[in-house]
Amino acid sequence: MVRAQARFVCQQCAAMYPKWTGRCDSCGAWNSLIEELPREGPPGGIGKRTLDRRSGRSLGFVGLTGPSMLPARRQTGIVELDRVCGGGLVPGSAILVGGDPGIGKSTLLLQAAAAIAPPTEERPAELKERHPTAAYITGEEAIDQVRMRAERLGVTASPMLLAAASNVRDIVASLDREDTPDLVVVDSIQTMYLDTLDSAPGTVSQVRAAAQELIRLAKRRGFVLVLVGHVTKEGVIAGPRVLEHMVDTVLYFEGERGHQFRILRAVKNRFGATDEIGVFEMSDRGLVEVSNPSALFLAGRPAAGHQASGVVGADGEEDEGAESSGGQINGSAVFAGMEGTRPVLVEVQALVAPTVLGTPRRAVVGWDGTRLAMITAVLDARCGLSVGANDIYLNVAGGLRIVEPAADLAVAAALVSALTERPVPADTVVFGEIALSGDIRPVGHTESRLKEAAKLGFTEAWMPIRRGKRSEAAVAPGFKAAPMSHLMELIEHLAPARSPLGPLPRQRRIGVAS
Ligand code: TYD
Ligand code: MG
Repeated sequence: MVRAQARFVCQQCAAMYPKWTGRCDSCGAWNSLIEELPREGPPGGIGKRTLDRRSGRSLGFVGLTGPSMLPARRQTGIVELDRVCGGGLVPGSAILVGGDPGIGKSTLLLQAAAAIAPPTEERPAELKERHPTAAYITGEEAIDQVRMRAERLGVTASPMLLAAASNVRDIVASLDREDTPDLVVVDSIQTMYLDTLDSAPGTVSQVRAAAQELIRLAKRRGFVLVLVGHVTKEGVIAGPRVLEHMVDTVLYFEGERGHQFRILRAVKNRFGATDEIGVFEMSDRGLVEVSNPSALFLAGRPAAGHQASGVVGADGEEDEGAESSGGQINGSAVFAGMEGTRPVLVEVQALVAPTVLGTPRRAVVGWDGTRLAMITAVLDARCGLSVGANDIYLNVAGGLRIVEPAADLAVAAALVSALTERPVPADTVVFGEIALSGDIRPVGHTESRLKEAAKLGFTEAWMPIRRGKRSEAAVAPGFKAAPMSHLMELIEHLAPARSPLGPLPRQRRIGVAS
């Protein structure tokens, strides 16, 4: 008889090997092979119903329209979550929520479940008679732990269902009914296992099979399935990449350690855009929605139009090194950005210091390091500065990660301001894309950016030239635009050749190449 042979499966890419090796040849991951025993019988299908044993029948093709439309999206009432999901949760869909341990995934989902299943007396009349509409299944924590959290969040009155389980067969048996809840949270998929497989929970084959079984049930019964996924050291959801392909929506919950706020970001969404973010603040009573993120990201900075008398020293560390003149900080520029459909103002901070090493240091938080190299090269080559020879530290305040090219000009402004020790005026926002020639290119959503800036008390924008568009004064009365077409104009604004502040610091070559 042939003995069932053990095989080694890469936990990152699911490649299979007959022998253990330290490095997966297929994806290059180190130490990712785990021994798994092969499956008995065909894959999937723990219920007889799910597997059609007949040899296949012809499909009944249909048209694009039909009498039974999909049920409407289910709003949780947590606006930031609904927006990231594209305007509510789609019944029958599967959502994967990833994030570092302790970031608040369980908290967010317990709050969402409680919001979907409010106490009977608080329900709208048409839902009064319905069964409890959310279930929370935890494989990580004990019931008492979840109850304690619910108490802290003040949601104990919610009639949602709670269970501690990790066997997928039990979960399927409990949920495969007429009156399934509208929302089922499974925390986390790495703790779930199928007893038809031999490998341990959390291995590639278990995670894949358990997710497949749960997703199939969600589609059949029409509930929203939310799977919590762990994240590896490298920041991707642990387990097979295929998990991300199997679900309809992938959300990442992220935030900087030591910062209060958390950002929910969609990286894949079959039912909506992926450029929306939801902003939350972790409080002692759970996550609180932040509907005006600009105010949050700019907290701790001198308010626009005022001197720095009332600075709230939330992030004191970067202020210490920078000398300020008139209460304004060198090396700081406010970027008027867009996150999806929403304008968000954030502060870009730069510190430029003479290098003591052979190779200048670069440390970038919240932005793309390659893009920084490009901007410094353009500043050096097109404007005659020598930024690139210095150590550069660049930070997007508040833990936001910016991907928009429109941030180029704000980064350049922060760098030039740090180098020349001239502050960007506190009531000015900056945005625009920089070309390799040093030209400043127009970007989209100018009006939204300006409106948001005006709303927060800013009065001036350094921005690309727009042709044939409404004037900025029409966007907000009293708002001034300083359109620029080349980086040289930015330098002119920050450090005018005949500056009343006297000559520029001598140790740095700032002279404009003629
Ligand atoms: P949790 O939801 O358990 O994180 P995850 O499921 O992503 O691992 O969040 C735990 C953290 O959140 C923990 O460090 C404590 C903090 N927290 C609060 O600050 N306030 C609260 O009301 C709750 C419930 C948690
Ligand atoms: Mg958790």
